[in-house]
Amino acid sequence: MGFKIGLLGLGTVGTGTVKILLDPAQRHPLVRDLELYRVGVRSLDKPRAVSLPADLFTTDLESIVTDPAVDIVVEVMGGLEPARSLILKAIAHGKHVVTANKAAIARFGEEIFEAASEAGGYVLLEAAVGGGIPVVEPLKQSLCSNRIHTVTGIINGTTNYILTRMQQEGADFSEVLADAQRLGYAEADPTADVDGLDAADKIAILASLAFGGRINLSEVHCEGIRQVSAADIAYAEKLGFVIKLLAVAKRNPQLSANEPEQLQVRVHPTLVPKAHPLASVNDVYNAILVEGDPVGQVMFFGPGAGSGPTASAVVSDILNIAALLKVERGGVRQADGTPLLDPLLACSHQHYCAIAPIEDLTTRFYARFLTMDTPGVIGKLGTCFGEHRVSLESVVQTDVRGSQAEIVVVTHDVREGNFRQALNEIRSMDSVSCVASMLRVL
Ligand code: NAP
Ligand code: HSE
Repeated sequence: MGFKIGLLGLGTVGTGTVKILLDPAQRHPLVRDLELYRVGVRSLDKPRAVSLPADLFTTDLESIVTDPAVDIVVEVMGGLEPARSLILKAIAHGKHVVTANKAAIARFGEEIFEAASEAGGYVLLEAAVGGGIPVVEPLKQSLCSNRIHTVTGIINGTTNYILTRMQQEGADFSEVLADAQRLGYAEADPTADVDGLDAADKIAILASLAFGGRINLSEVHCEGIRQVSAADIAYAEKLGFVIKLLAVAKRNPQLSANEPEQLQVRVHPTLVPKAHPLASVNDVYNAILVEGDPVGQVMFFGPGAGSGPTASAVVSDILNIAALLKVERGGVRQADGTPLLDPLLACSHQHYCAIAPIEDLTTRFYARFLTMDTPGVIGKLGTCFGEHRVSLESVVQTDVRGSQAEIVVVTHDVREGNFRQALNEIRSMDSVSCVASMLRVL
């Protein structure tokens, strides 16, 4: 009893997936039951890294998702359209879907999961976050007895590679970005990676799983790493931190039982203390630290991208579905005839979570100012911060460049809205040339 796979896309992830399907030895025995039945691509003439019979290929991807023989559609083509329409059409035709497409899931999750639950189908997405790192299914299954309160991740490999090289070599952003593109880590258009959008898609997915509700992507606060300079990395180092692009999803503390629950969901470069477990996650590696009650801290670490690692996650999802289909074909169905879905694998929530505005975030900040090197400047900064109830942990004047002084401050925990108001006032001071950077501190 085999399971027919309709593969949409034979690029980096699709090729890795096919390599596993064609080489089942010493893997789970169920891999032998998976039959690669159709492969949808854009170009039939392109040389491929795997050798497959020519009659498997088609450029008509709709014919795959509507083919009655196909059991599981594997969407690894990427992009928003036609990926969204093909996933929906596959579900409408009774297929189960495996996808690596975080961009489509973060934007169209509601539509896709409602369609799947109505049709009695699964949409599994382990590969969409953290590449080869198992984190989606652990959040859905292995950790589901916990009350999760924080998910903190380094979930974009390209930006982690760039920041690691900047840290290790004192290099500037633009020169390392060029290398990341040359090595194939960053896309030709690296916007989604360096501006934090890819990490925002991924943390929206993780937050939804951790907190059992949908996340409106437009409410996820998102800053990328373009503004992180070699100077900030050097100051952070002296202060005992490394700078990482963190994606954070956290339950806000409820001050009273009547207060509605709110989440923080945000992506931004962050000063991470060197002793923190995420500080040593370097290069293209990803890691996700989950904190819950009663489990405590659990960290998932591994390769966040790449052909083999991402395919590992894709094929595990296919196997999960194949295993359930095996049971279902044995006869387990609901009274109305639709398949009985495993509640730990299917999407189990419909409501949207309330996201707190970024102004209400309470955190520590690092800021760097270029000012006149004249007496009283530090005093003026301190007075302004004090007036906005921003308490300072340290103020250092580390450098003088000509007539310019460079002043670095680190705050205690303060409300972000207050800190921003203080910065706006400081920007307009005659003795201050600019606020060169502002970063949050973990
Ligand atoms: P890729 O290398 O660009 O491959 C895309 C494949 O889809 C190609 O085979 C392409 O056909 C096909 N395709 C794209 N648009 C098509 C269309 N309109 N009609 C027909 N075929 C089409 O992409 P990838 O890196 O494998 O990524 C695939 C998905 O996995 C994306 O959602 C990505 O975000 C996600 N993902 C990737 C990684 C990674 O490390 N690469 C990690 C995690 C998740 P041709 O070959 O004919 O051009
Ligand atoms: N561009 C992504 C990254 C690929 O750099 O992490 C994996 O999702």
